[in-house]
Amino acid sequence: MKNAKIIGVGKALPELVVSNKMMEEIVDTNDKWIREMTGIENRHVVTTETTTSLATDAAREALLDAGLPAEEVDMILVATMTPDDFMPSTACKVQHALGAVNASALDVSAACSGFVYAMSVADQFIKTGKMQNILVIGAEVITKTIDWEDRTTCVIFADGAGAVVLTASDEEGIVATDLGAKGEPGDILRTPALNNNNHFAQTEAERSVMTMDGQTVFRFSTKIFGQSVRKVLEGTGYGIEDIDIFVPHQANVRIIDYAASRLKVDVDRFYVNLNKRGNTSAATIPIALADMNEEGLLKKGMLICCTGFGGGLTWGSALIRI
Ligand code: COA
Repeated sequence: MKNAKIIGVGKALPELVVSNKMMEEIVDTNDKWIREMTGIENRHVVTTETTTSLATDAAREALLDAGLPAEEVDMILVATMTPDDFMPSTACKVQHALGAVNASALDVSAACSGFVYAMSVADQFIKTGKMQNILVIGAEVITKTIDWEDRTTCVIFADGAGAVVLTASDEEGIVATDLGAKGEPGDILRTPALNNNNHFAQTEAERSVMTMDGQTVFRFSTKIFGQSVRKVLEGTGYGIEDIDIFVPHQANVRIIDYAASRLKVDVDRFYVNLNKRGNTSAATIPIALADMNEEGLLKKGMLICCTGFGGGLTWGSALIRI
């Protein structure tokens, strides 16, 4: 049986960087509160960029890093909850932009856990021998769904894309994945979609903006993190002490601190880039992998654990040998 091995990583970020100081001019907030309560200092926000353009740029970088021609990609999975269109999918648009003519294409919707879900889907196709090369992308333009007058959300969320190329290998790669969902209480993180404006059933218009019960999300996230890490390790022969670096979903630095202390792991073993990237939902983990690669922190042979959690509610972990 082959393993899904990461052979390339890439990222794309919008050009505009918005600092906490700039946020102070938009809503009643301040740099100190944002830093202390979330760990965020700057975030990238789209102006002209789209989910497709960010996803395509991240994918191009990952393919270049892997040295893999686009025509050799068998499948493109895009984790996103902010596609440019309901149809065609972002994955199909990326397939066209890359010229990945031999790839099937599918969007995966699992909010901030989307990238880990997509990695797990890709892993199954590679393990069964059905596919050789899969491009997994996390891409979001979350700031398009934000109410810019809601200071509890607009200071947190940001935009960007990250991508990895997985290939079938005899070496160890994705060791195991754990996925979970809990539809109740899904409403604590919600972005409504279409209003029913058909001829027969006109419903009251609902704005398509994100709402969040921050404290409940916080409690859920800190609890589920450790549970998912322990679950993904089950039956692998590895323990928490074998993980070189944890690559958590970058939601809030206090969630990361809590998760580390609950796992009794030094927080230095957690990679954090939230300060400069904000919460880009499904894109946080692949952007983190690309940032780590750039910083020389993603070393061959190391064991990493990527853990995501968020809307749905959903969560998931991927234990990966680099
Ligand atoms: N700037 C300044 N003050 C703010 C603020 C902001 N951006 N947002 C909220 N506040 C204020 C509140 O109005 C409140 O003031 P009050 O005490 O005078 O009423 C105070 O700060 C505390 O607000 P509260 O909402 O109770 O804070 P909190 O401790 O829950 O922290 C979050 C808020 C959002 C930082 C926190 O709940 C959190 O991080 N939750 C998880 C969110 C998350 O990660 N979501 C994504 C998951 S994928």
